[in-house]
Amino acid sequence: MKIQWYPGHMTKAKRTMESDIKLVDLVIELVDARVPASSRNPDIDRLAQHKARLVLLNKSDLADESINRQWEAWFASQGILAVRLNAKSGTGMKAVQGAIQEACKEKMERDRRRGILNRPVRAMVVGIPNVGKSTFINSLARKAAAKTGNKPGVTKGNQWIRLNKNVELLDTPGILWPRFEDETIGVHLALIGSVNDEILNLEELAFEGIQILQKIYPGTLKERYGVEEGEAPYKILTSIAQVRNCIQKGGEADTDKAVRLFLDDLRSGRLGGISLERP
Ligand code: G4P
Repeated sequence: MKIQWYPGHMTKAKRTMESDIKLVDLVIELVDARVPASSRNPDIDRLAQHKARLVLLNKSDLADESINRQWEAWFASQGILAVRLNAKSGTGMKAVQGAIQEACKEKMERDRRRGILNRPVRAMVVGIPNVGKSTFINSLARKAAAKTGNKPGVTKGNQWIRLNKNVELLDTPGILWPRFEDETIGVHLALIGSVNDEILNLEELAFEGIQILQKIYPGTLKERYGVEEGEAPYKILTSIAQVRNCIQKGGEADTDKAVRLFLDDLRSGRLGGISLERP
């Protein structure tokens, strides 16, 4: 399944981020815990060179908890601190606050040795669309004290949110785009709902989803829909349609409806925590 998707405003967003990133000491990269590899942009390693780094495995509530831990360990093995998070509910926010301090420690120590005192560490959030950047920033901002005003040298409109006496966060996130050259990346991002459904062949996508579940989460389809799992994807969708009363006027199975129902269940966690990628 080939997915072609190249948003037009990408170049401008990239340029804005490249200049914003120069203003910060710490880059907080949000990835989707269900697809931590596909939801990263490899450019970030170059863009965030010489910066302190923190990776947040967001939407961890929709992923497989044991795999979340494996990813944390994998990032640690790459020298990057990673923490799992549910930005929507706030679960994990405390650990994130601690991790921000931890990631900034070296920088604060360096400042102290140079005699620079009380200069807060500056951070920004980056990630691909829909990964939860705004939700995360809002959640931090609610806890934080009043925003500090515009400062000279900062792009007009940028505001800094003071998280505590040591850390300030840029209130606008940097938007990155995933790589789409690899077919699997496109399929994984479409399955989690990060690609506009209007450009997708949803039936084909559902087939891909069913095949993946058959392979890495056997038992899931049977448990949720009571269908025979070993069948071909189309047969399974027809069975789901029957079980879930997706029936057309003439009495035939409405597979289009079953496709949407299945994808919605998968994306919203009703099939349980699903991790499509493992380290
Ligand atoms: P962005 O700025 O990176 O583009 O993402 P944004 O914060 O707008 O979040 C995209 C969607 O993901 C939102 O859902 C948001 O509620 C949801 N979300 C963010 N973090 C988490 C998380 O940790 N877990 C879960 N389950 N969802 C999360 P939405 O459908 O656009 O809005 P709503 O239905 O939540 O109102």
